[in-house]
Amino acid sequence: MSEPIIEVKNAKKIYKMGKERIRAVDGVSFTVDKGEFCCLLGTSGSGKSTLLNLMAGIEKLSSGEILIKGESIGKMSENKLSKFRQENLGFVFQSYNLIGSMTALENVELPLVFKRVRGGKRKKLARKILKQVGLGGRMQHKPKEMSGGQQQRVGIARAFVSKPDIVFADEPTGNLDSHTTIEVMDLIKAMARKNNQTIVMVTHDRKLSEYADKIIHILDGKIESVEIVEHDMVRGDGGCGSSPEGTSPPEGNGDDLSTAVEQSPPQDSSNTEENKGIEESNEVREEETNESN
Ligand SMILES: Nc1ncnc2c1ncn2[C@@H]1O[C@H](COP(=O)(O)OP(=O)(O)OP(=O)(O)O)[C@@H](O)[C@H]1O
Ligand SMILES: [Mg+2]
Repeated sequence: MSEPIIEVKNAKKIYKMGKERIRAVDGVSFTVDKGEFCCLLGTSGSGKSTLLNLMAGIEKLSSGEILIKGESIGKMSENKLSKFRQENLGFVFQSYNLIGSMTALENVELPLVFKRVRGGKRKKLARKILKQVGLGGRMQHKPKEMSGGQQQRVGIARAFVSKPDIVFADEPTGNLDSHTTIEVMDLIKAMARKNNQTIVMVTHDRKLSEYADKIIHILDGKIESVEIVEHDMVRGDGGCGSSPEGTSPPEGNGDDLSTAVEQSPPQDSSNTEENKGIEESNEVREEETNESN
């Protein structure tokens, strides 16, 4: 059943700083299977982001090889690599990296623009996924007109809209509170499960790493150990930080995604900025009516 979609073979990244050589990634080998949720866990400075960036083709290897879907990304020309990334990879960043002058809808459309999907279809796909992440009423909002959690849900919609085989996420909940963190983690997991997409996520948080199927423990640029996580049938015991209400979908049942995620946004306004939340929820309904016409 399992087949590797990513193969990391003795990957090294050495930075030269004057006379000093920093072995940020120091001979790392592992594989990630299709549909697997893999987490790179380690303390600050251990080399997690560098490793993720190597896997995503953002940084160049000093030596070793990384294969994605059997293709060596280090051997690709810049053009081929950027096309390959557009077609196969999605990204979720800690700081969201949305374009401030664009609406949520336009931000989510962007990967489809690069893939040359036509306007009408593009808008339809972007609207659909924004509704799935519970932002049907925020499509015309610009990033600064949304909460952190909402911005990250736009980030997730943008990462998943083109249905990439692999989504890379570097501390995707690093700027969020604990409640929103759970929502965002459940969302990432549900989105990926729905289409059997592969996730590689960096975190320094042991609890968050337990969302994964496989945890790669990184220490000083090396793999300390590889841990396979056993997921119980019933979650929400705190081990994964999953919400007690069970917003996370049952394992393997991606069909519950729309209900799972569309239920959560109204709760957004329940604990913070109540008054503003009520005002906005009226606005939401109006916009949604307009959207569907
Ligand atoms: N561009 C660079 N030039 C020189 N050294 C670098 C560069 N990028 C990272 N490093 C060094 O490589 C090591 C690993 O950095 P990296 O950013 O991968 O760590 P990390 O595990 O992601 O840490 P954090 O949890 O703080 O984000 C660190 O010692 C860092 O100082
Ligand atoms: Mg980092």
